Amino acid sequence: MLRSNIELWLAILAGIVITAVYALVVFTAREIPAAGELFGHVLGITGFFMMLMTETLYSIRKRMRGASWGRMSFWLQFHIFTGLVGPYMVLLHTSWKFNGLAGAVTLLTVIIVLSGVIGRYIFTRIPRTLDGMEIEGAIPEAMLRQSRRLMALWYTIHIPIGMALFISAFVHIGGAIYYATLLK
Ligand code: HEM
Ligand code: HEM
Repeated sequence: MLRSNIELWLAILAGIVITAVYALVVFTAREIPAAGELFGHVLGITGFFMMLMTETLYSIRKRMRGASWGRMSFWLQFHIFTGLVGPYMVLLHTSWKFNGLAGAVTLLTVIIVLSGVIGRYIFTRIPRTLDGMEIEGAIPEAMLRQSRRLMALWYTIHIPIGMALFISAFVHIGGAIYYATLLK
């Protein structure tokens, strides 16, 4: 189903542009942008919005099999693009301080991205159509069974981490807006 790495190249390109803008802000202000100020907020909110899209859109499309909402391969590529660029923006948002709950949310974000990268390589071991259906008989049955088992194991790690991540992220966001923004 994933026949090219275009999403990885686009994510790298976006990463370069974002890094250049970040470097310009650091160079102009002569300090690391604070998480709770304008540029830090823009990074945090945009990055988190992309992560929310990563968590929801592919799953929604996956449950609408046959619907004309675009190919599954496109949505997985979009999932990977937003799943790399969103966390990168959030990482720049942290101002490189990782105290308390916010630090734990960052750690969960790093873990889910790494687990996503591993999942992508297990996923592509199983030959699929552009719409995500497994192609029968394309690889030996023993290899197919092993890949399916690995994928199932991977799911039991990736999904709960995602849930823990979003619950703690919402607590961080609520707390940060209340204490660091509204009470100022
Ligand atoms: C998964 C998404 C996010 C992660 C991993 C994250 C992580 C962090 C980290 C590590 C810090 C620094 C904490 C410290 O000073 O030790 C921080 C600060 C902050 N974050 Fe986030 N953040 C996320 C999303 C957001 C969003 C969407 C907002 C939107 C309002 C936000 C608002 C803030 C604010 C206002 C601060 C500054 C708090 C202060 O000055 O005490 N964060 N965040
Ligand atoms: C913010 C980061 C990420 C979040 C929150 C996230 C979340 C999820 C969720 C909820 C699913 C389950 C979809 C479903 O079956 O309904 C999933 C599947 C998947 N994700 Fe991620 N993911 C993230 C990043 C990544 C990255 C960076 C990659 C690859 C480089 C990736 C690759 C995959 C793959 C291959 C699947 C399995 C697709 C399938 O079985 O149909 N993810 N992810």
